[in-house]
Amino acid sequence: MKTVYVLNGPNLNLLGTREPAVYGAHTLADVEQMCFEACARHGFALQFHQSNHEGALVDWIHEAGQLHAQGELAGVVLNAGAYTHTSVALLDAIKGTGINTLIELHISNVFARESFRHHSWISPAARAVLCGFGVQGYALAIDGLARI
Ligand code: DQA
Repeated sequence: MKTVYVLNGPNLNLLGTREPAVYGAHTLADVEQMCFEACARHGFALQFHQSNHEGALVDWIHEAGQLHAQGELAGVVLNAGAYTHTSVALLDAIKGTGINTLIELHISNVFARESFRHHSWISPAARAVLCGFGVQGYALAIDGLARI
């Protein structure tokens, strides 16, 4: 059984109460349940994590990279939050592990928002980028991993 890593960066623990007009009313626990159901539909195991710390996200990408090397990784869905727009370390982690099935995900349509959200350090190393579908994007990203 292959594994999907769903990794969430800073402030995503506040989903449900954080700017609901932008991010909706679902909590991170709701998102985890959606991911669990999407993975179950495709026969994937799920590793679901959130951290407000950049290095923790790097460590989980390395962990996923070990599964990738063993042929046991279905992919990574990464919502790096604001680190998307700042983190060369995340870009280097993805490139360093050779993971080629990483989906960059954003709940909101970042291109309809402030211009500082239009640049991503992650996109050059991502297989695909998904934004603007709300939290349903997580399930769509997992469905996408099942198709590639
Ligand atoms: C986000 C968009 C980012 O710009 C922001 O910093 C986030 C969440 C999203 O899911 O829409 O924290 O990644």
